Amino acid sequence: MNDLFDKCRTNGGSFGAFRAVGDSYFTQPILEGLPGAHMQFRGKPVIVWAINNYLGLADNPEIKAAARAALERWGTFSPMGSRMLTGNTEAHIALEQRLAAFLQKPASVVFNYGYLGVIGSITALVDKNDVVVMDKLSHASIVDGTLLASFGRRFRPFQHNDMDDLEGQLKGANRDRKGGILIVCEGVYGMRGDLAELPAMCDLAERYGARLFVDDAHGFGIMGANGRGCGEHFGVQDRIDLYFGTFAKAFAAIGGVTAGEREPVEYIRYNARTNVFAKSLPLLYVETLLATIDVIEQRPDLRERVWALAKRLQDGLVALGYDVGDTKTPITPVYVPAGSEQTAMEMIRILREDYGVFVSGVTYPVVPLGVVLFRMIPTASHSEEDVEVTLRAFRELRDRLHIDLSQKPSAANR
Ligand SMILES: Cc1ncc(COP(=O)(O)O)c(C=O)c1O
Repeated sequence: MNDLFDKCRTNGGSFGAFRAVGDSYFTQPILEGLPGAHMQFRGKPVIVWAINNYLGLADNPEIKAAARAALERWGTFSPMGSRMLTGNTEAHIALEQRLAAFLQKPASVVFNYGYLGVIGSITALVDKNDVVVMDKLSHASIVDGTLLASFGRRFRPFQHNDMDDLEGQLKGANRDRKGGILIVCEGVYGMRGDLAELPAMCDLAERYGARLFVDDAHGFGIMGANGRGCGEHFGVQDRIDLYFGTFAKAFAAIGGVTAGEREPVEYIRYNARTNVFAKSLPLLYVETLLATIDVIEQRPDLRERVWALAKRLQDGLVALGYDVGDTKTPITPVYVPAGSEQTAMEMIRILREDYGVFVSGVTYPVVPLGVVLFRMIPTASHSEEDVEVTLRAFRELRDRLHIDLSQKPSAANR
């Protein structure tokens, strides 16, 4: 007789080889200290390029003061219960109004996690007659929301950012149409830093009578003249039906928001099971987030700093011969031909141990076999010196391991 737990004693499952050896170096590493550009890893100082603290707000004094005041007043848990029953407050409503104004939409609804917000929004809206058309490179929350919403039925993935394929899928969805069509994509693609073709997607959505949901987790607070995100960047915010942002990146908090016209937002509020059946976001976060929006509105210099540092880092890597793909944002993917998984891990180890540079790396199947992708996130709390130290490390890594940078692995990853 098979025991359910048999598989847990093998090296199967996601990251099973790492789990089986009790790894804590490549998976679940422990970074010590306040999230920022400088932390400790295994007792040694490191420059961290692996966290989404884009605007450096994890250590912002005004935001910490607001959090202290909220903690003093409300503790960690208030209010209790789901918003549908006992967990609603004036502050939650004020935060939603403030976010709606920031995002230039009539209404918004907040969620406890970005992941739950994406899943909740998609599953609330899409019923058995509707179909989801999804960019193939989408984040797990979009994939999971789409799978749940389409349970047992067909959804239509399209090739990443391929507008011809999207149009083909929309034509197919229209032909079989029994209900509505929801197109879902990211604004900024979190691993590669490239942007969704939002103006063309808005055109297609309008032409085929579809609605567009943009998960702008990595663009919220960063993209556009005022940090309102990719819709603002492209001048199409008013044409995006539902805009989604997480608080877990530039906002350095926790939670997420879906913004749009009042009726669909209210429909989501009442039908998103991830909200209806979950305790509401604690006031500690709700009140702190009101202060965070103030800072984001009042400090455009933080955004400018991230972009300037990102340019310096990306230009420097390209000058060394590294392939940074077609990023259009601060996210800096470095595609390195490593040959094998072992060499990829050795590169990560050398950067951390010999140069104090902490980057995360991903390998196959996210990138082609034999390639390692170092995803680097410059933030407002990095310094020019951090960039220079890191570029020196990458130069020495290239020379020590004789990495053949004439190959451009990102081309095979499009
Ligand atoms: C595109 C995208 N959507 C959703 C999420 C989930 O957000 P959260 O971490 O707030 O749950 C993430 C986080 O990695 C993301 O990158």
